[in-house]
Amino acid sequence: MLADRIVSDHVRKQLAIRAVTSAGIDEGNHTEMRFDVFTLLPEVMHAYLLSSVIGKARESGIIEVKLHNIRDYTLDRHHTTDDEPYGGGGGMVMKPEPIFAAVESVLGEEIHTTPILLLTPQGKTFHQEVAHELAKHDRLALICGRYEGVDERVRQYLATDEVSVGDYVLTGGELPAMIVIDTVARLHPGVLGDMEATQKDSYSSGLLEHPHYTRPASFRGWEVPEVLLSGDHARIASWRREQSLLRTLLRRPELLEQAELDEADRQILDRMTE
Ligand code: ADE
Repeated sequence: MLADRIVSDHVRKQLAIRAVTSAGIDEGNHTEMRFDVFTLLPEVMHAYLLSSVIGKARESGIIEVKLHNIRDYTLDRHHTTDDEPYGGGGGMVMKPEPIFAAVESVLGEEIHTTPILLLTPQGKTFHQEVAHELAKHDRLALICGRYEGVDERVRQYLATDEVSVGDYVLTGGELPAMIVIDTVARLHPGVLGDMEATQKDSYSSGLLEHPHYTRPASFRGWEVPEVLLSGDHARIASWRREQSLLRTLLRRPELLEQAELDEADRQILDRMTE
């Protein structure tokens, strides 16, 4: 149903073959997903990957994130990673040789079965459904572009997919890569602790989430809705569903076309739009 499937047919086929050939082999406890990031700025990603939820998931071995400095794969004395564009014009372009060398040496044989994402504003837009699709793989490679761009041959002959995190231009692919890793990693059981939380996420259910409150019940005269203090779980559930529908209707009405709605939801929406 995913119209703009992110993982190319080639990779899909390879994965199907691998699934068949490895059927029945249980390797026991192992990392659920490994991310290989190819970047010129590994240091900007360190802090985030060490901290909080992602840091804990790495510590406990559920996910593995390896940062590879593209500069380490240059062969010249000056460790050149960029050059002027053929045809002139401003800016610099990332050279293909170190990027190919890095990805080929790190992925080895798995280069044929691993989705290799090039982060670029020209890619397909990343969203929750794409994250679910990517989470099915046990390995992902992410190439972060810098400067004015990346030599076109990287896009044509190395990347399997191009991904954009939105219609705006950043100075590089590092933040987009972090967004992809964070979003995909938290879908794995054990990363959040409470898998139910990901089911209730905005977007996962097709609707925006209901509002959340915590103590104190009254803050600067602003009260928590009475229903949430009532202890009546059925009432709370229907209030939350209604709020979720209302929020989606007001903020992202187009999501309602794809959301899974039952008859009660439709009646609520009809009342809201009367
Ligand atoms: N690099 C620069 N801008 C980007 C974007 N919006 N998405 C992915 N990679 C990028």
